[in-house]
This record gives sequence, C-alpha cells and structure tokens, in this order.
Amino acid sequence: MREYLTIGILGLGTVGAGIPLILEENKKKMETILGMPIKIKKVFVRNIEAKQNLAQIYGIELTTSLEEIVNDESIDVVVEVMGGTTFAKEAIEQALRNKKHVVTANKDLIAQYGEELVLLAKENQVYLYYEAAVAGGIPILRTLATSLASDDITGLYGIINGTTNFMLSQMAEQELSYEKALGKAQKLGFAESDPTNDVEGIDAAYKMIILTKFALGMSLSLEDISIQGISDVTLEEIKLADKLGYKIKLLGALKRDEVGVDVEVCPIGVSNNHPLSTVENEMNAIFVESTGIGESMFYGPGAGAKPTATSVVSDLVTIGKNLKNQAKVSQFNELSVEKKLVDKSQVVSKRMLFLQSKSEESQLKSIQLFFEKEGIEIRKVTGQVENSTTIYSIITDEMTDFSIKNCQDKISEELSINVLSHYKVL
Ligand SMILES: NC(=O)c1ccc[n+]([C@@H]2O[C@H](COP(=O)([O-])OP(=O)(O)OC[C@H]3O[C@@H](n4cnc5c(N)ncnc54)[C@H](OP(=O)(O)O)[C@@H]3O)[C@@H](O)[C@H]2O)c1
Repeated sequence: MREYLTIGILGLGTVGAGIPLILEENKKKMETILGMPIKIKKVFVRNIEAKQNLAQIYGIELTTSLEEIVNDESIDVVVEVMGGTTFAKEAIEQALRNKKHVVTANKDLIAQYGEELVLLAKENQVYLYYEAAVAGGIPILRTLATSLASDDITGLYGIINGTTNFMLSQMAEQELSYEKALGKAQKLGFAESDPTNDVEGIDAAYKMIILTKFALGMSLSLEDISIQGISDVTLEEIKLADKLGYKIKLLGALKRDEVGVDVEVCPIGVSNNHPLSTVENEMNAIFVESTGIGESMFYGPGAGAKPTATSVVSDLVTIGKNLKNQAKVSQFNELSVEKKLVDKSQVVSKRMLFLQSKSEESQLKSIQLFFEKEGIEIRKVTGQVENSTTIYSIITDEMTDFSIKNCQDKISEELSINVLSHYKVL
C-alpha cells in the first residue's frame, strides 16, 4: 500500500512557489480524495541561498543537483516549472527515462516537442500531464480530453493570452495608446520586458497547437497557423469598433468543416452580444462550438501563482489516483487523427472594415451600391466626419481574404475611398 505520492519539483519561481502553497491550503481535501498525502521530497533550484526563505516556510529541501531528483527512487512524479525548451526538455527526458511520471506547465515545450515527449512517456509507461500549459487556471485540457470526448467539436475560439487581452481592454476602457497599454502591462507584471511572444501572437499560437490536439486530435506545427499579433491595432480602430458594438480581441480561432481545419491567431472584432466580449483584462476564456452541447465557454485566470499551481496539483491528484487504483497507464490525450488543413484562401469570415474618404459629403449610398454590385451584404454601416474627411465603419457578410483584397483595390479605384484597415469578426 502506497503511503505518499512523492514529488520532486524543478524550479521555484512563480508557479513553483505556488505548488507548496496549494498543497498546504487544500491538504485535507486532497488527502480525502487521494487517500494519501502529497509529499515534496526536494526542489531543484539554481541558487539555494536565494530560495532559502521560501524553502523554510514550507520545510522544503533544496538541491542544485538535477540528478538528486531524477535518479531518486523514492520520487514518483517530477514537476517541471522552470520554463524554456532546452534544459527543461533534457530534464523531462531524463525523468521519463527513469520511469518518473512528469507534470509540466511548459506550453512552449509541449507545443514544440509534445509529440516526442508523449512517445517517450508511452515507451516508459509513465504519465505526462500538462493541464497548466494552456490558460493557467482553466481546466480546459482535461475537459476536452474527458468531458467533451463524447462531443464533436466544430469550432473553438480562445482568449488565451492574458497580456494582450489586458492591453486591448486597457486601450478600450482607459483610452490608452498601444505603447501606454504595453507600459502599464509591463509595470503590473502582465507583460515581460521583451513582449514579442505575447504581442505577436506566438504564445497564443503555441496554445492553439495544444488545444487543436485535444479538440480534434490533429498535430499542428507553428507553420500551419496564420499568426498576426496586436502591434498594429490602434486606439482609433478600437473606438470605431466600439461604435459598431464590437471589441477587438486577440483570438486563437479553430474552425472545422468536412474538409479539414483552419487555425489562426489574429485580432478579431467580437460582437458585444458574444460571451467572449465580456472577457476583460488578464482573464482568459475558451468558447467551444460542438454538435452535442452546442455552445459552451470556460472562463478563468490564465496565469498567476495560485491558479496555475492549482492546475499543476490537479494533474498530481489525477496521477496519484491512477497509481493508487493501479490503472493501466494512458496518456493525457489519446485522440490522434490525420492532419487535414483547409485551403486558407477559401475560409470565409464576416468582416469589419474602416474606410476613409477625403470628402465630408456622405458617400454612404455609393458604398452600399458598391457592395451590392459585388454581391456582399452589408450588415451595419456608420459614417463620421473627422478633420474634413469621413470615416466609414462597416460590418459585412462573410468574405474570403481574396474578396476583401479585391474590394480594397476596387473601392480605391472606383470611389476614391481608402480602406484603412479590416478585421475578421465573430
Ligand atoms: N507564471 C504563470 O502564471 C504561468 C502560467 C502558465 C504556465 N506557466 C509556465 O510555467 C513555467 C514556469 O513559469 P514561472 O512563471 O513560474 O517562471 P519563473 O517565475 O521565471 O520561474 C522559473 C524558475 O525556474 C528556475 N529555473 C529556470 N531555469 C533553470 C535552470 N536551468 N536550472 C534551475 N532552475 C531554473 C528559475 O530560477 P532562478 O530563480 O534562478 O531564475 C525560477 O526560479 C513556464 O514554462 C511558464 O510558461 C506559467
């Protein structure tokens, strides 16, 4: 009979420090569910002195030797919360080869090397879990893998990057410029000093790779996803979108039809009637369309020590329960189907266009006639005079990227009106 679930932790930063806290706070409940306590045997750090105070609070033993954890026979699960894709990968590989179960919060690593790490875990008959890797505190991966296993997912739209959602919310609410919103996010610790991965949509794309694998079983790489960040979104556009009843959000969007899947990350106009429009600041949400449930949304904090550590510990509880029940080892996500991508040029979306005419005189009639001639329905249109020009904001029916480009050129030629920018809308 197993007395403890014994774990070793690699890294004692934000998430690492949250783990002993969650284990302490919810000790009784977890012991009841698991039938045994979870014991931290050792924590691997770079600098013992720097982490000594924290270690003393929880009575944790620190080590600077990775081998002391991955080679320790008494350790059941290695928890990797260091981040990065080089040393963390080597450490996880060593742990898996030594027949240790592994829990990680490392989305970059799982998005890029998940396939080979899962294979290694399978070969060694151990668990590899990573609930915290997508949307921190929202239990979305386990939900997709288990609760939605009986459903057929046709669409998934996620606000899965807290930094960009915070910035766009602040631009809208406080009328901040992009630069000021970024500065505020950095000051509050929501953005890193080098924000590229967040603001250019790369972090969200990594998460979409993992979500697509869980939702549909398809293994995508970064090249399969069209990625556009928020660095070109202006306060002016956010204000114009607001007048139309839309919020601009950075979304990860998965659409599936009979042919295949299209996945992209880009700023999208979300109607104020859509539940995703209510997700503000650093909060995350994943909106799922499926044939069984219909529409469902999973909302919560995408980061932070306690929410993320809660997800890490939920993986530990699941592994502990399986070990206790002597269950046959299965992987976190067993769904695997051939990758089928649709031709991106054929994907249609409703659009939000911002046009500028050099005249104060209304050209609404000619704009409407133009779209009518092109066979594109206009759902909403507004015009406002600004500094002797008129700005038109339009919501159209579904268009392909090709037809939007075509209209852009023709509007300029035929009506002498510039298309300033355009967004897809949800
Ligand atoms: N923060 C969140 O809210 C959040 C949410 C979801 C997922 N995650 C993921 O969780 C992981 C950890 O994130 P975090 O925010 O906790 O990062 P963090 O605060 O920077 O902590 C990382 C810790 O790992 C240690 N570390 C890094 N490389 C190491 C190495 N080679 N050897 C020994 N120790 C090393 C660092 O040591 P030093 O202190 O010496 O630098 C630091 O204590 C990342 O993969 C991240 O993507 C984080």
